[in-house]
Amino acid sequence: MKAIAIKEFGSTTNFFEEQRGIPQPRADEVLMRIHAGSFNPVDYKIRRGRFGGHLPLVLGHDAAGVIVEVGSSVNRLHVGDEVWAYLGGPCSNGACAEYVSVPHEFVTARPRILSVEEAASVPVVGLTANQSIRLKAKPTPNHSVFIAGGAGGLGSAAIQILQMIGVEKIVTTSGREASTRFIVDQLRLSPEQVIDYRGKGLKQLTEEAIAANGGAFFDKTLDFVGGVMKRLCFELVDFDGDIVSTVEESDPFAVPVWHGRASPLFRKSASLHFHLLGARGLYGARETWPGYTQQLDELTFLYEAQRLWPVGVQNIGELSVDTIRRGHEMLEAGGVQGKLIFSVP
Ligand SMILES: NC(=O)c1ccc[n+]([C@@H]2O[C@H](COP(=O)([O-])OP(=O)(O)OC[C@H]3O[C@@H](n4cnc5c(N)ncnc54)[C@H](OP(=O)(O)O)[C@@H]3O)[C@@H](O)[C@H]2O)c1
Repeated sequence: MKAIAIKEFGSTTNFFEEQRGIPQPRADEVLMRIHAGSFNPVDYKIRRGRFGGHLPLVLGHDAAGVIVEVGSSVNRLHVGDEVWAYLGGPCSNGACAEYVSVPHEFVTARPRILSVEEAASVPVVGLTANQSIRLKAKPTPNHSVFIAGGAGGLGSAAIQILQMIGVEKIVTTSGREASTRFIVDQLRLSPEQVIDYRGKGLKQLTEEAIAANGGAFFDKTLDFVGGVMKRLCFELVDFDGDIVSTVEESDPFAVPVWHGRASPLFRKSASLHFHLLGARGLYGARETWPGYTQQLDELTFLYEAQRLWPVGVQNIGELSVDTIRRGHEMLEAGGVQGKLIFSVP
């Protein structure tokens, strides 16, 4: 089969095309013919060598396609099923290939109303946004939520899930006209709910976000950017609030976890809850795997019920060194709204 791999960590010039044997599914795996995949920041972080790994490496965490073989102990999936998959951990390879063999828990029937490209845009951001919001932050409709990075893959999935829950008090960030337009047009927030972060320091951003929230701190803050935006999430969260971050920091990182604010006295911060979602794009312990099946099934249900919808899905080309290189470079450069996809004919 054709695969696009890296033989060294580093720049996008390391991608090369190789021919590999089609993987053989183990007893608990399914073999999938991939028809589309998507790009995520974890792909370029792995490519740069941030998390190590055995070379040569085929990257790519999202795939949609069809099952062509099932392992002997797999009963819940069948040859011919149209599926999507979350790839990482012990898969035969990543999504930048024609085939992948995957533990069956990470593969489910995909929403029938989505195209294969739309389906490939969902697993990583859908699962992560769902885990951030429904398993960690757990907002109720009357809560206010701040999101750093609303126009990205994760931010756009998160805004939809919050709207589905009934949360109306959402404020997010944008660093581009195109991102603001995307958030307003595609994600249905008002311009007043979008803070332009360009050229502003932490103090001004804090003031603007609180003003956009009617003068109140936020019950929940979601950091999908890291760095200054993670600090902002700490500044903005209310007493006993939740901060969820999906972004690991590479440098030593200090946050103000005890700073009595003027009023009310000593409101803060020993009493907030910080959740960092596993940032390496790997699977957790085996007993957690059925949870992925359940969440992917739930996402299928929500897309079919049109309670979630694909946004900003842009197909940048067919599987090739050039397409994969371009996808990495576009995502690293910033300025992508929604999700970049490649197809695998
Ligand atoms: N832990 C996990 O399991 C997990 C899973 C998925 C993703 N992640 C991580 O979560 C992060 C977001 O993922 P993603 O898929 O949403 O990425 P993405 O699609 O590339 O989106 C990133 C967003 O960040 C914004 N941004 C960029 N630079 C910024 C800055 N300096 N200040 C404020 N906003 C900025 C961009 O919007 P503008 O146009 O407004 O600048 C963009 O919307 C990545 O670091 C990714 O690795 C972790």
